[in-house]
Amino acid sequence: MCGIVAYVGHREACPLILKGLKRLEYRGYDSAGVALLNGEGLKIYKKKGKVVDLENELQNKDLHATVGIGHTRWATHGEPNDVNAHPHYSNHKKLAIIHNGIIENYDSLKQALLKKGHEFRSQTDSEVLVHFIEDIQQETNCSLEEAVRLALQEVVGAYAIVLISEDDPTQLIAARKSSPLVIGVGENEFFFASDATPIIEYTKDVIYLDDNQVALVRQGELKIVNLENERQAPYIQKLELELEAIEKGGYDHFMLKEIFEQPRSIADSMRGRVNREEGTLQLGGLSDYMDKLAEAKRIIIVGCGTSWHAGLVAEYIFEELARIPVEVEYASEFRYRNPIINADDFVIAISQSGETADTLAAIQLAKSKGATIFGVCNVVGSSIARETHAGAYTHAGPEIGVASTKAFTAQVTVLTQMAIAIAHKRGSITEELYQQLLLDLSAIPQKVGQVLKAADRIKEIAYIFTYARNFIYLGRGLNFPVALEGALKLKEISYIHAEGYPAAEMKHGPIALIDEDMPVVFIATKDSSYEKIVSNIQEVKARKGRVIAIVTEGDELIPNMVDFVIEVPETHDILIPLLSSIPLQLLSYYVAVMRGRNVDQPRNLAKSVTVE
Ligand code: M6R
Repeated sequence: MCGIVAYVGHREACPLILKGLKRLEYRGYDSAGVALLNGEGLKIYKKKGKVVDLENELQNKDLHATVGIGHTRWATHGEPNDVNAHPHYSNHKKLAIIHNGIIENYDSLKQALLKKGHEFRSQTDSEVLVHFIEDIQQETNCSLEEAVRLALQEVVGAYAIVLISEDDPTQLIAARKSSPLVIGVGENEFFFASDATPIIEYTKDVIYLDDNQVALVRQGELKIVNLENERQAPYIQKLELELEAIEKGGYDHFMLKEIFEQPRSIADSMRGRVNREEGTLQLGGLSDYMDKLAEAKRIIIVGCGTSWHAGLVAEYIFEELARIPVEVEYASEFRYRNPIINADDFVIAISQSGETADTLAAIQLAKSKGATIFGVCNVVGSSIARETHAGAYTHAGPEIGVASTKAFTAQVTVLTQMAIAIAHKRGSITEELYQQLLLDLSAIPQKVGQVLKAADRIKEIAYIFTYARNFIYLGRGLNFPVALEGALKLKEISYIHAEGYPAAEMKHGPIALIDEDMPVVFIATKDSSYEKIVSNIQEVKARKGRVIAIVTEGDELIPNMVDFVIEVPETHDILIPLLSSIPLQLLSYYVAVMRGRNVDQPRNLAKSVTVE
């Protein structure tokens, strides 16, 4: 949450920072600001709203500077307004800070500073930090770098920060703990950003700062130290990301582009792993652990939101194929309820961003108890990917729309491969089934392409339900997590209240909601619970509910019972979520567009939830 961009070098800083902030708007978009340093001193410009509102504010101003910092905010402390927007000045306005994260002990620091006469302009925790740093520098007469280190030793919480100082126009100081920060290394220029997207068009050489590291750029030189001032060797990596991957490519929204990318992203998540011709499946990242995994007594899966839903799908698949007991936990609950974790447990952490604070804390807890941790992350080099013992990247490519779509199907594809590989190793599936699953999995990208051809039909259905006030999503077995995911997609981008339920649970309560105004989406593909879900559809129709059903191609029964039908191709039961989730993504997308919502940046949300 919150996006950071900073630059020092020979280019015009302001346009570069604004462009970068637009790329990071998925991280927060309630206000934005820049601080620029030039002959006239340190100037801050900030504005409530999107980066484009800031841009309008900046028109006709002299913004010439080759050093600057910028921020796009997702509010935690203090409402979204001009004053609470970042950057924040220090007490004497000699320093400015941008911050992503939460300073948990900000109040005690603030009280002490107030007693010393500091005057605060905003309600933010971030402003307290820059005052605190300036105060230390003045009291101890030390360098800014030293003051940053001393201050951070006192800080409780999470941060990625960048500081700019009027006293030294060639200098930027950055630090991180539990919030991401990437440094781009160019020719006599340096970039700082929350992820690599603002950087890639200038340099592919990046350094992912580690927790408790402080980076200092001064007169074109980069130095990294830890909080104890021990020099740290910078590890420069080459970015593999291409610019086209983070642009809309002709689509109206990133979300639509990402939905339509799924034939490719699912194929990418199998690339180099499934070899259909040779009938083999290999997950390089897990190979050292396969013997231990074959003996696993229990797997715990942790995640949040959509990633948690992917975990629920995986639970069914692991238990069905590998016959290993699986528990799926909300990371936010798991970390605080003193869970029983054994040293022989395997924990799988699922996260698109790889930065979700609760998931990160959950795996740190499990690690401290001796469990083996695997990551299923999309963002390469992310905190969760680095914190785990091993894992498999989803390779879905950058997902920019706040609503997760291609990340979900890529997560499910990777988890399915893990389950098949472990089941094969354990001997809990026959060679014949193993080979069949590899064939069926390989056919999924092309079948997803087929589902996407129904987009216009789904748009028509969405039009009919644009003004619905509620939705219910029902599914059984593997389609139950798909129902949860469909409901989450709809509510987060259209702001329509939607509930997902196991279809059989309906008669224990939700059926009371059914009347002619209640749209009910049944995910009713042909699988082992088909007859049962047909009965559930009848129960809804008997109460005049309006039913949209996702069915298997060629189904002749359900289309005669329901109001609207969307077909998906036939596949093996365990692979159905990879197909049945796609129409639900499109349905929520079109409903949200017709309601005039900001699909890629829905209100109150951010793509990367780095606060708990
Ligand atoms: O980056 P993560 O996968 O860890 O994010 C977890 C959730 O915040 C995320 O899936 C969220 O629920 C999405 N907005 C859902 O579309």
